[in-house]
Amino acid sequence: MSRSVLTVGDLSAPEISEVLDRALETKRRDDRHGSELSGKTALLIFQKPSLRTRVSFELAVTNLGGQALYLSPPEVGLGERESPEDVGGVAGRFCDLIVCRTFDQSNLERLAAASGVPVVNALSDWEHPCQALADVLTIREHGGTCGRTLTYVGDGNNVARSLAVAAAGEGMHVRVSSPSGYELDEASVAEATRRASESGGSVRLVSDPVEAVSGADVVYTDTWTSMGQELEARQRLEAFTGYQVDAQLVANASAQANVMHCLPAHRGEEITDEVLDGPQSVVLDQAENRLHAQQALLAWLFD
Ligand code: CP
Ligand code: NVA
Repeated sequence: MSRSVLTVGDLSAPEISEVLDRALETKRRDDRHGSELSGKTALLIFQKPSLRTRVSFELAVTNLGGQALYLSPPEVGLGERESPEDVGGVAGRFCDLIVCRTFDQSNLERLAAASGVPVVNALSDWEHPCQALADVLTIREHGGTCGRTLTYVGDGNNVARSLAVAAAGEGMHVRVSSPSGYELDEASVAEATRRASESGGSVRLVSDPVEAVSGADVVYTDTWTSMGQELEARQRLEAFTGYQVDAQLVANASAQANVMHCLPAHRGEEITDEVLDGPQSVVLDQAENRLHAQQALLAWLFD
């Protein structure tokens, strides 16, 4: 039976742990190649731009012996030129795996139902599960996850949703600090809290960013204006005033705290150059770990 990863909740906490153990093991090896996708073809359907996700998925598929075919936003016309059902039905005849970056989460569900092959979410408006795998992997490498505090400051968006659930499942104390109207949604808070209750972690929404960051081991932020929200940019800049991750805010965290950002950053908005480029930043490790986490996920799915 084909197994899709459309949200981080499609993987249990023990499964995330297993995938990340595998990622760490492969990362440590000199030869990182595998054969789990030998003779298989992955279709990468992207409706939004990408640097990290596209490159890391293409490399992951190649490293596992498979072939990746990339379709750019104007080529796909998902839901415009053709329905997700027709795209999925055709892709399922040619390919063994679909990796899709799209707007509406339902497009992923429709592709999975029509194609009969595994579909992996490469970012939707709702979630960014592969980013969360790489983020938790990065936290594991920089001091560990269980019992440590992760504070996310900013928009309760796709990145925040996946991260909160994944980190809570690893036993982290997750705090999310957002202005009114931009908080993490109730369903994600409930799922993260459920996982935290089993792992010894916790989840709190703390509107005051200084209180939220106080003593944190990891401070994380993402753009205030996600892809597709460009028309709201001005209104969002105003709403997020006071939520910038700058040196003054980070000074409230643990002295050894790491700063994380999924990138791309809107420098001078959600984060300053000084912090993003500073000694506490681990953003390039995060970016590199997209490859290791996704390669492990694909190997695990096709084992
Ligand atoms: N972090 C991330 O998903 O980056 P891209 O948009 O460049 O893929
Ligand atoms: N929240 C951002 C993440 C980009 C990787 C967006 O959706 O644009």
